[in-house]
Amino acid sequence: MLLVIMPLIKLENVSKVFGFGDATSLALDSINLVVQKGEFVAVMGPSGSGKSTLMNVIGLLDKPSYGNYVLDGKSVARLRSNQAAKIRRDTVGFIFQSFNLLNRLNVLDNVALPLAYRGFSISKRTKLASAMLSRVGIAHREYFYPSQLSGGQLQSAAIARALVNNPKLIIADEPTGNLDSVGSRLIMELLTEIHQMGNTILFVTHNPELTRYASRVVYMHDGAIVGDETTPYGDVAKIARKVMYNTLHKTDDDDYAGVSLLMHTLSDNLMIKKKDKKRNHKNNHLKKSLKVKKRSKQ
Ligand SMILES: Nc1ncnc2c1ncn2[C@@H]1O[C@H](COP(=O)(O)OP(=O)(O)O)[C@@H](O)[C@H]1O
Ligand SMILES: [Mg+2]
Repeated sequence: MLLVIMPLIKLENVSKVFGFGDATSLALDSINLVVQKGEFVAVMGPSGSGKSTLMNVIGLLDKPSYGNYVLDGKSVARLRSNQAAKIRRDTVGFIFQSFNLLNRLNVLDNVALPLAYRGFSISKRTKLASAMLSRVGIAHREYFYPSQLSGGQLQSAAIARALVNNPKLIIADEPTGNLDSVGSRLIMELLTEIHQMGNTILFVTHNPELTRYASRVVYMHDGAIVGDETTPYGDVAKIARKVMYNTLHKTDDDDYAGVSLLMHTLSDNLMIKKKDKKRNHKNNHLKKSLKVKKRSKQ
């Protein structure tokens, strides 16, 4: 029997345009990306480089303007929003920097919410949510409200909510952005545990140190993928490491210094073209330039 291994994610020439008329901006610029089941991918790049847009497209929160997207064997780029919502609910767990917990619900009810959308009975969803809260180490906070939790506890609750459905794909957009290094390590260790159970994880980070947890690092600039590196678990990725050593003695602005250095390192390594950070096109020019770019890449 021929066994075909199907990637979990396959993006082909995916572009995303925001805005109309004179004020369009190209947030994603002909992205090609294949992610296999079980990968643990870090996404790095300066602010505004399209990381969140890419996560939102991959997680079906947003649609590509151009290009194809196959998620778990299904073509999903042109789905209607209710169809996309259904696949998202069954396949993707999102973890945001801002947690997105509902303040008027206690932690247990927040975590149980995705199960309510799927029609589980109240006793079943309370049981599952409670078990998930134990796994992330905050069972003792079940009946607390979000305003009563620390940053790390909030993030653990948000992770519990993202995982309670047992989604194949976990997308974390700067999950450690608001946390200190101890908090960040706890979150990353939790994600590692989940990864070891066979889930696929994509996470956005500005911190080179956190690439230790990843098996692969994708670097973005100006809406394009400008670097893609396989890296052993436990090691800081090579390109990210250059950045880390050079910012070792800086303190407050580590992230920002690191990001600009990252871009230098990338442009030395990969000869990316320098473009304006934000581009304004007229719609018809944009379409033309997308076609030209596609042709020149073939
Ligand atoms: N909803 C939106 N409307 C208009 N422009 C947007 C929107 N979301 C993102 N953008 C633009 O797309 C580009 C990429 O943004 P984003 O994906 O948030 O980058 P990152 O997450 O890397 O900081 C930026 O220029 C941003 O201003
Ligand atoms: Mg972002």
